[in-house]
Amino acid sequence: MPSKQVFETKDEAVYTTSNGAPVKEPYAAERVGFNGPLLLQDFHHIDLLAHFDRERIPERVVHAKGAGAHGYFEVTHDITDLTCAALFKKVGNRARATVRFSTVGGESGSADTARDPRGFAIKLRTEEGNLDWVFNNTPVFFIRDPAKFPHFIHTQKRDPQTHLKDADMFWDYLSQNPESIHQVMILFSDRGTPDGYHQMHGYSGHTFKFVNDKGDWYYVQIHFIADKGFKTLDNEQAGKLAGDNPDYGIQSLFEAIESKQYPSWTVYVQTMTPAQAESFRYSVLDLTKIWPHSQFPLRPIGKLVLNENPANYFAEIEQAAFSPSHIVPGIEPSADPVLQSRFFSYPDTHRHRLGVNYQQLPVNAPIVPIANFQRDGFMAFNNQGARPNYQSSISPLKYKAKPYSSLQHETWIGNSIAHLSEITELDFEQPRELWQKVLDDTHKAHLVHNVAVHLVNAKSAEVKARQLSVFAAVDQDLSDRIAKAIGAPTVQPLKVKPASEAIPFKTNIGKSQNF
Ligand code: HEM
Repeated sequence: MPSKQVFETKDEAVYTTSNGAPVKEPYAAERVGFNGPLLLQDFHHIDLLAHFDRERIPERVVHAKGAGAHGYFEVTHDITDLTCAALFKKVGNRARATVRFSTVGGESGSADTARDPRGFAIKLRTEEGNLDWVFNNTPVFFIRDPAKFPHFIHTQKRDPQTHLKDADMFWDYLSQNPESIHQVMILFSDRGTPDGYHQMHGYSGHTFKFVNDKGDWYYVQIHFIADKGFKTLDNEQAGKLAGDNPDYGIQSLFEAIESKQYPSWTVYVQTMTPAQAESFRYSVLDLTKIWPHSQFPLRPIGKLVLNENPANYFAEIEQAAFSPSHIVPGIEPSADPVLQSRFFSYPDTHRHRLGVNYQQLPVNAPIVPIANFQRDGFMAFNNQGARPNYQSSISPLKYKAKPYSSLQHETWIGNSIAHLSEITELDFEQPRELWQKVLDDTHKAHLVHNVAVHLVNAKSAEVKARQLSVFAAVDQDLSDRIAKAIGAPTVQPLKVKPASEAIPFKTNIGKSQNF
């Protein structure tokens, strides 16, 4: 039975208990006489305190500090040759979007201008269910072996004893895991301190697959390019703002939308055929690498506009539950092991953070009706009425044939192995290009400075030397400049295997039997 949960206008609102009974005096508590103890029968008072006691839910284990808004995604170009997703069936199609931006390492009260990657999580409500794109503002990431994620995150958070952020553990992890260097260099450039959440790009980082209605499929990277450009702060501006206005990112997003300066992004894909992927220099499953635009040009597909601030932050942003595994037919995961692990991790953490029925919360509920055999659990708002809770022969649920899926277009043959990637010379090519060809002299100087003011805090000479050897493997001059800035001896480059020893990306491509 539907209930009228809110008063239609603010003027209509009448104070009630949570069971809807009007209360005459909200500040009064029932007590024995003027000076006696309180009465247990005072439901209003007990309900008020008990609800207050439970106001905080667990904050996200990462990406706890954030800001968000609503808007729309519009398809601007025909990509039906790439995907059969209903959203992309027609140019002009629109999906209501909710976006949450975030920093990664800090707690929910931490500063928005911290040097940190930014989350860029997008929920698109389509006629075939919700499509979540849970991206970051950098095109690459620190890891490519998913089991490293909890280790890595622990080192970016607080020391178990001192409860302080710790430069030794921060650089200890990174220097032992040099595949992180590409992301480290982006993070310590001024891109590591974006000027607000709404003036930066967003990237899938991972390779996805788009499948068209003939069953052909493509590897795809997705880019959200800010129409007003990627604006950054330098280290000193960001540090000052962290003290003066730790909520700078939330505020500037909110105010941009309130003043109708709607943030917008042009959305592009890069595509690669399965055959191209086999001859590409890097593995498409390695999210420490980018796909050069010269080889794989950006193809426009749509635009994202944020034009509506949340009316209630907690209900519409804090309770938003994004997951890379919330996908729709026509868009699929690649075999990237980090992406595959994320498919598990997000719904798992949502069940912990928001409860097993998190998909039923208004901000998360799809706009299309759902019908399945999930029932009950805490907060079952949509418990699917009288419909049978098993596949009944009397009133069976119909199945809509799913278009082509990865279950049909790939076969996997081989043994199970425990795999951990190895570092090779390939891992330093793109960071070297960034240092030698992309950054100008000013941005080179900023990168050196930004690393130096952080690395100098590491007490361990060994950790410092090891990280310098990783920078030297990128470029000796880069490493020497950082060494000089922190007063450390210069070091030789880290020795790594040659590129020829990298495991090539090969997959068994072909259509397998329908079943
Ligand atoms: C948030 C796990 C890698 C982007 C989270 C959360 C978890 C998590 C548990 C908290 C979610 C919540 O409480 O709602 C992981 C694991 C990873 C991984 C296990 C690797 C093995 C990545 C990568 C990206 C990414 C590679 C981007 C390309 C995000 C974003 C959020 C997030 C944007 C915030 C979502 C929001 O605003 O609610 N991650 N993550 N993560 N992660 Fe990851």
